[in-house]
Amino acid sequence: RLDVTETFHGLTWPGHLHTQDSLNYATNFKFKDSDTLIVTYPKSGTTWIQEVVTLIYNRGDPTVSQTVPNWARAPWLEQYYCPEVLSSGREPRILTTHMPYSALAQALEGSKAKVIYVGRNPRDVAVSSYHFCHFANFMPTPGSFQEYLNDFLQGKVHFGSWFDHVKGWTDAKEDIKNLFFITYEEMKEDLQGTIKRVSTFLQCPLVEEEITRTEEQCSFSKMKNNPMVNYTLVPVEILNHSSGKFMRKGETCGDRLNHRYLNVKL
Ligand code: PPS
Repeated sequence: RLDVTETFHGLTWPGHLHTQDSLNYATNFKFKDSDTLIVTYPKSGTTWIQEVVTLIYNRGDPTVSQTVPNWARAPWLEQYYCPEVLSSGREPRILTTHMPYSALAQALEGSKAKVIYVGRNPRDVAVSSYHFCHFANFMPTPGSFQEYLNDFLQGKVHFGSWFDHVKGWTDAKEDIKNLFFITYEEMKEDLQGTIKRVSTFLQCPLVEEEITRTEEQCSFSKMKNNPMVNYTLVPVEILNHSSGKFMRKGETCGDRLNHRYLNVKL
């Protein structure tokens, strides 16, 4: 299904991981109050916050983060394998989604699940996504960066508009009981502070030593070399390992000078 695209909720989704059944499963999901739901627009720090949350719930013990792939410990609700992963009964459940709020609003209504939204500067999201489209064989091959940027700005890319995604979830603060916002830039600037804030939100406060161990495991260099999060476990037919890396640069506005069309104000 590498070249298949699913259309759902007015947006397009890579058919490699999504089916109509799996997308419907997500919108009808029965959340438990003990669930933690990670929400991101793609390339905004999903894998990073998955690692932070995993380590917080394991009080800084790296065993799980070094032995279980991120998709098997924090599955995407809308991807086809989610029900199978959840059948293992692992608690508390850590779930991930790239869905817009409008698609999950009904499922989350009245829920006390803890929702963490990570946002990232759209300049970096656009650059990271552009490279990902070349790296992932299930993404449409983009043309020039300028062409891709035009599509990105108009929301004519898989997963839809960055702007609508951020607006939908920020407006949801009126409706969702336990909603926590953080940015990739804040994580980058103060990872230790991020870990403390997230652990407080999750009602799982850590002692200093646990915070230090969590911080060590979540550094870019550590994650870049951890096969459980760097996607090297995915076969080369799906991810083009010879042409790039999932853990690419990990910087804020890192590629601005290399992509001159981003020097305009968004
Ligand atoms: S995905 O495909 O949506 O799940 O991608 P996502 O995980 O959201 O985003 C991938 C980008 O996050 C960077 N990353 C990190 N940056 C800093 N520190 C850490 N620990 C870290 N882990 C992942 C990753 O390098 C991608 O960004 P770019 O700009 O492409 O390097």
